[in-house]
Amino acid sequence: MENREPETPERRGATFSHPHPHPHPHPHPPMKLLIDTDPGVDDALAILMAHAHADVLGLTIGAGNVGLGHTVRNARTLVDLVGVATPVFAGCPSPLVRLPEEDAVHVHGADGLGDVGFPEPKAVAADEHAVHAILRLTREQPGLTLVALGPLTNLALAVRLDPSLPQRVQRLVIMGGAVTGLGNTGKIPAEFNIGFDPEAAHVVFEAFSRFDLVDWEVVLRHAFDDEAFNGWLAAGDRRATFFEQVFRTARAFNAKRGRRGVIAADALAMAVAIDPSIVTRAEERHVAVELDGRLTRGATVVDWTDRLGRPAQARIVMSVDQERFAAMVRRALGA
Ligand code: BDR
Ligand code: CA
Repeated sequence: MENREPETPERRGATFSHPHPHPHPHPHPPMKLLIDTDPGVDDALAILMAHAHADVLGLTIGAGNVGLGHTVRNARTLVDLVGVATPVFAGCPSPLVRLPEEDAVHVHGADGLGDVGFPEPKAVAADEHAVHAILRLTREQPGLTLVALGPLTNLALAVRLDPSLPQRVQRLVIMGGAVTGLGNTGKIPAEFNIGFDPEAAHVVFEAFSRFDLVDWEVVLRHAFDDEAFNGWLAAGDRRATFFEQVFRTARAFNAKRGRRGVIAADALAMAVAIDPSIVTRAEERHVAVELDGRLTRGATVVDWTDRLGRPAQARIVMSVDQERFAAMVRRALGA
């Protein structure tokens, strides 16, 4: 386990680059993933990618893009689609401290999956709470990779219940934050996942001495060309048909915002989790979460110049190999 490493000059503000891409998309035997998520359209693509490349031990679900009832149901719909018995665990219905100021219904649709009207899924949610499932699965399967694709409420509670959690996971990859303040919420510098539950993000950022951070800004730099993406949707299997349907609402929203290209936030975090060697540049820095600011609550504050000398717990992903990321998305869609 790589958490709690001693601090070295390299860990405090080093620049990382990976010039020799790994030729294989995943190691053998398949990587074991535990995914905390609030599906969500881009969560859906990430979950399809995870099942195409790795062993998924479970989906632990929180509120975020839409309410918990919808996110749990959407996870069950996805389990039906991939056709494997991945367990779904319902977690926290609200942030740790304050009620959220916004959801993402306007992006993902009222049901979180584009309001397509899917039938009641056959897969059922487990009885165990998501937080307990995180603690149990990380005990039973030490060395798994934890991927957080939504607000960090479940993870924060898990690490408060059992502070030894970080030592049991091989890696934690978080989709969240906006490392130079170019956020995507009503609080200008805050990104949605962190802004939805800043206290939870603070707990997790303090408890884990090492995690990969895939922020909103790197996501925007790795959007896919619309035409290329349409081609993958047309060439893919039932997963592509599904994604084309659920993606319509979010796509229209992005177009209205003048955003070009296909933005795949959670899929980028998942790609980094599955194959860390796609990262071509990363920066190791200390990152804190603003909890109070009237205009800035939920912002991720990066100590870019190491002014406070605190250990650099975040490996901030700055760029990835776009071709290899695209190949992972295509495989997720069966294209
Ligand atoms: C994040 O917020 C959600 O809307 C997406 O699913 C993604 O996890 C992007 O800010
Ligand atoms: Ca998400």
